[in-house]
Amino acid sequence: MTSGGENRVVVAIDGPAGAGKSTIARKLADTLGYVLLDTGAIYRSVALAAERAGVSWDDEARVTEVAADLARRGGLALQPVPRGTGDEASERGLRVVLEGEDVSAAIRTPSISLGASRISSIPAVRSALLELQRAIGANGGVVAEGRDIGTVVFPQAAVKVYLTASVAIRAERRHEELRRAGQEIDIEKVREEVELRDHRDTERAVAPLRQARDAVLVDSSGREIDELVEELAALVRRAAS
Ligand code: DC
Repeated sequence: MTSGGENRVVVAIDGPAGAGKSTIARKLADTLGYVLLDTGAIYRSVALAAERAGVSWDDEARVTEVAADLARRGGLALQPVPRGTGDEASERGLRVVLEGEDVSAAIRTPSISLGASRISSIPAVRSALLELQRAIGANGGVVAEGRDIGTVVFPQAAVKVYLTASVAIRAERRHEELRRAGQEIDIEKVREEVELRDHRDTERAVAPLRQARDAVLVDSSGREIDELVEELAALVRRAAS
């Protein structure tokens, strides 16, 4: 809910996989009446588009073409959807449409997670997707979540949060999320994937995952999500008043 006279600001939420970013960002956007910008969904969509075009995720030049082409033609749309119908899009409050096709579920497989991690380490891919992300946040009233939102995409964001949790807890959450999506994967394997992605995301040369100097550090381990969302909403309201 928004109260009259407030500025609609940009909220940047960064952090590693499984820290609770998407759930928290979605609930926070709902609470504030803001648009949700899931930037991971954009990288995932590029990985899927490359795969479908027969382009190897390691082929930097061609993956960059895929990303730039998608951004230029507007071939990718993030649409807010009502919740409660039980499918992937409604779970997240966001439908991801690639070339007219709903890929909300297709971009969440472990293989596409790895692909997204790979292609997001290509500097030219990141810059090709920058304007697309900035355009969505241009008028404020956005909760943007990702890895480099507070550091690169929206360095002027009014509120920056760096959300983290222990590796064990993040692996458990990912495991549960995959299980709900019908994918039974050994927890140890999920933990390895989480660690591999952490390593890639924090070690890459361009826009590595790190806490912005002016970001609030929040550890979600053992915390109630709704309580955290309320805390963050209060922070945003203060910054926006
Ligand atoms: O948050 P996610 O799991 O959907 O992100 C998928 C991949 O995209 C992940 O490996 C990190 C990368 N990513 C990124 O590099 N920068 C962002 N702003 C968002 C995601």
